[in-house]
Amino acid sequence: MTRLSVIGTGYLGATHAACMASLGHDVVAFDLDSEKIAKFSSGNLPFFEPGLSDLLKAGIKSGKLRFTNELADAISNSEVHFICVGTPQVSESGAADLSQIHSAVKAMAPLLSEGSTVVGKSTVPVGTASWANQYFSEHAAQNIKLIWNPEFLREGFAVKDTLHPDRIVLGVSNTSDSSVVEDIYSSTIQIGTPVIVTDYATAELVKVAANAFLATKISFINAFADLCDVVGADVTTLADAIGHDTRIGRRFLNAGIGFGGGCLPKDIRALQARANELGMKDQFEFLNQIDHINTGRRSYLVQQVAIELGDVKSKNVAILGVAFKPDSDDIRDSPAISIAKRLIEQGANITVHDPEALQILSKIHPEIKSSDKVEDALANADLVLHLTEWQQYREIEPTKLSKLVKTRTIIDGRNILDRDTWNSAGWKIIYLGRPSS
Ligand code: UDX
Repeated sequence: MTRLSVIGTGYLGATHAACMASLGHDVVAFDLDSEKIAKFSSGNLPFFEPGLSDLLKAGIKSGKLRFTNELADAISNSEVHFICVGTPQVSESGAADLSQIHSAVKAMAPLLSEGSTVVGKSTVPVGTASWANQYFSEHAAQNIKLIWNPEFLREGFAVKDTLHPDRIVLGVSNTSDSSVVEDIYSSTIQIGTPVIVTDYATAELVKVAANAFLATKISFINAFADLCDVVGADVTTLADAIGHDTRIGRRFLNAGIGFGGGCLPKDIRALQARANELGMKDQFEFLNQIDHINTGRRSYLVQQVAIELGDVKSKNVAILGVAFKPDSDDIRDSPAISIAKRLIEQGANITVHDPEALQILSKIHPEIKSSDKVEDALANADLVLHLTEWQQYREIEPTKLSKLVKTRTIIDGRNILDRDTWNSAGWKIIYLGRPSS
């Protein structure tokens, strides 16, 4: 078992630290934010992620996992150091803001002991690992090994994706360096997880290429959703049919209000910005269109609301789901929030419900009224919008809601509610890219 430090306890770092402790490694996780560190140390997560709370508590109890806000404490007590800091978007250019990466590398360098290993997991523009490697060779002890090991975890499945990833990608400057990380992940590798050892640039690009491809799939099907609406076709049947072709695959072809969250939107913008810097503007221009189609979904849903309600001013609109996806309380770049805000600007009375995201919502958007009961959110609604496909909403019995609302109409922004169930309870259901009834 290895002594590990994890630098940065955001979504990625916290999950990585708890998962590595669950594999038996001795983990110390560092963050500058002392409030967060205190929270983790007392066994509490600052965000919702299925299964992670139990791993955190178990790690602390077993003594395998601890948290610190002193970098020297984390580094000096460990042999391998994982960089998990954030790379948010620079708002004007869309490029990745590398200030946290630069600060982490510069602060770590003088603390690293000879021969130790640093593993970068953050999503970074191509070229960053080479810069970090050069920096360590000039400012740190001798023979530091740097490996770039991008993370592919999905929120809602973060624990599973960390412990059982589809693949492990290791970018190295010297192929023999990868064995340190392969030892750390040995239990995962033993069950057959493919390991791809490559150069830094390829490893960095694998991550952004994967996210760009997923974003492209979603916008591709959403473009067809628009076309289906014009000609009266059904985008879900279309996706099912093309998805049977194993070269295409059905996953990530769910049309609706599009993608949000802390990764896909920012990663396609950062990729485009980096490609522009490298003289590849033409080749990556399509990502602009992917982004444009995606943000257009939000406007399209607001238009559908106007078609249903006429003037939305003073109308009661209930929103089911504000997290950017189910099984997460993350509302970063959530399509539902953007839709709620636009409707509020137009004078609608919005009440939102979400099983997990309301606490964060009230902190970040106190102007958005919410209710922790579906029934209360729907009371006197002129229209209901289903915007995040939580399991709880799939299981709603519409007959139980019928008497609460003024008008039995629901727009299903995720295209998954069962038409017959809602119709037979007297509701009109409107989809995006599928005939309504
Ligand atoms: C994504 C990548 O999937 C993950 O590999 C990477 O490490 C981080 O970014 P995540 O942001 O957690 O993960 O969410 P994901 O499951 O990819 O969904 C992103 C968005 O796309 C969500 O808003 C989701 O609702 C939307 N989506 C997804 C669709 O609109 N249609 C689909 O078919 C699939």
